[in-house]
Amino acid sequence: MNSFIELLRNRRSIRRFTEQTVEPEKIEYLKKAILMSPSGKRRNEWEFIMVQDKNTLTQLAGCKEHGVELVAKAPLAFVILADTTQTDIWIEDCSIASIILQLAAESLDLGSCWVQCRLRGQQDGTPSEDYIRQLLQIPDHFAVLNLVAIGYKNETRKSFEDEKLQWDKIHEEKF
Ligand SMILES: Cc1cc2nc3c(=O)[nH]c(=O)nc-3n(C[C@H](O)[C@H](O)[C@H](O)COP(=O)(O)O)c2cc1C
Repeated sequence: MNSFIELLRNRRSIRRFTEQTVEPEKIEYLKKAILMSPSGKRRNEWEFIMVQDKNTLTQLAGCKEHGVELVAKAPLAFVILADTTQTDIWIEDCSIASIILQLAAESLDLGSCWVQCRLRGQQDGTPSEDYIRQLLQIPDHFAVLNLVAIGYKNETRKSFEDEKLQWDKIHEEKF
């Protein structure tokens, strides 16, 4: 069992996945993990759409121009969305759930990548959020923050090294 710091050290964005599907028990573990994410005032305004259908994954990969191609080749993606009428801090809550999902995936030796949707759009100017809302029949008062693509790793990324961390980003007592 890896320690938490090793988990963080090894988590890198993975954009190439093998054909292998993610086993149901691993999917169950991921679901459990996101549902335990902290949220402001425990509003739990987030919702998650789990997509495994190849055709839908390919369509999701059309939500913006760049940085989304990997979704078409992933065996699994979670769409992270929130009911924005419930709280003004849905971006924070959804971001936390997303990183929890990524770390949970890493703990299962699965690779993952965050794909930004909020404030992104297609070439013709259609917001990625609107495209996804229509594709997945999401009600209008839900905002889509991002996708998290997940699968077995088909690329090797370097782990973080202590010496190369930006230690100067951390200030003591004053800036
Ligand atoms: C808020 C956020 C948005 C991101 N959006 C994308 C994206 O749209 N497409 C993509 O391929 N990677 C995306 N990434 C992954 C980053 O590019 C990646 O985390 C960064 O390059 C650092 O690499 P690492 O995750 O391997 O440490 C995003 C990551 C974050 C945290």
